Amino acid sequence: MRRVLITGAGRGIGAACALAFAETGARLALADLKAPAATSAQARSRGAAEVLDLTCDVSDGAAVAAMANRVEGAFGGLDVLVHCAGVIHEAPLLETRVEDFDRVIAVNLRGSFLVGQAAIRMMRGTQSSPCRVILIASDMAYYGRETFSPYVASKHGVLGLVRSWAKEFAPRILVNALCPGPIDTEMLGAANMSAEWRERELAIPLARFGLPEEVARLALFLGGEGGAYITGQGIGINGGSVMP
Ligand SMILES: NC(=O)c1ccc[n+]([C@@H]2O[C@H](COP(=O)([O-])OP(=O)(O)OC[C@H]3O[C@@H](n4cnc5c(N)ncnc54)[C@H](O)[C@@H]3O)[C@@H](O)[C@H]2O)c1
Repeated sequence: MRRVLITGAGRGIGAACALAFAETGARLALADLKAPAATSAQARSRGAAEVLDLTCDVSDGAAVAAMANRVEGAFGGLDVLVHCAGVIHEAPLLETRVEDFDRVIAVNLRGSFLVGQAAIRMMRGTQSSPCRVILIASDMAYYGRETFSPYVASKHGVLGLVRSWAKEFAPRILVNALCPGPIDTEMLGAANMSAEWRERELAIPLARFGLPEEVARLALFLGGEGGAYITGQGIGINGGSVMP
């Protein structure tokens, strides 16, 4: 049974990933700023062999170490990380405070570093065929977008971690990032989007928002045998928004 740690599991893409892996009968450690009790309950009813319900601020090194201790203690190691915790901040550059920049970088980039490092440490003793580290970047990791520069910079950084770790830990650990386009979650905020912004978001070949479940299916693929020859990649799931 695969041992899988999923951060940001309280809602959105992380919650969808938790349910997708639950259906495979995996042992799950589910973490969020508040313990994701509702996702954990659903995961149990969808077939997870075991669910740990964890609280962790991924930008906090001590909190990540405590989370890793809980996972190591319960599972004795880790096979798959799906690191979905993240934040976004929208403001014109000249109205962006350094605190806003620091927060986005702390959660999205330092959080990816801390959680990825802790996961890889837990994977060292794992004998099973290649472990998987799956981070979440964005389609914006391939281009810039006005009024989102800290977020875009953080996601470019995530690809840097992926490419470096993929080389450092091959062939034992495969490291990739999902690069979603507009996915219908609270972060995207489709319900409150201006008509102009919505039109702009939907001016992509598939002309619709993606679903968190669609991203989860890609995470499941990468975490399983289908992903055995994939490492160091940022994998687009974006309705054609970017074609790098
Ligand atoms: N939704 C999109 O359109 C989209 C597109 C590209 C990339 N992404 C990325 O996908 C990931 C998931 O996004 P989502 O759309 O599901 O967002 P979401 O806001 O719906 O969910 C994010 C989750 O992360 C958690 N979180 C935030 N800060 C945290 C912290 N410091 N420690 C622990 N958990 C924290 C939140 O509590 C929340 O449950 C993010 O990395 C996001 O940048 C999303």
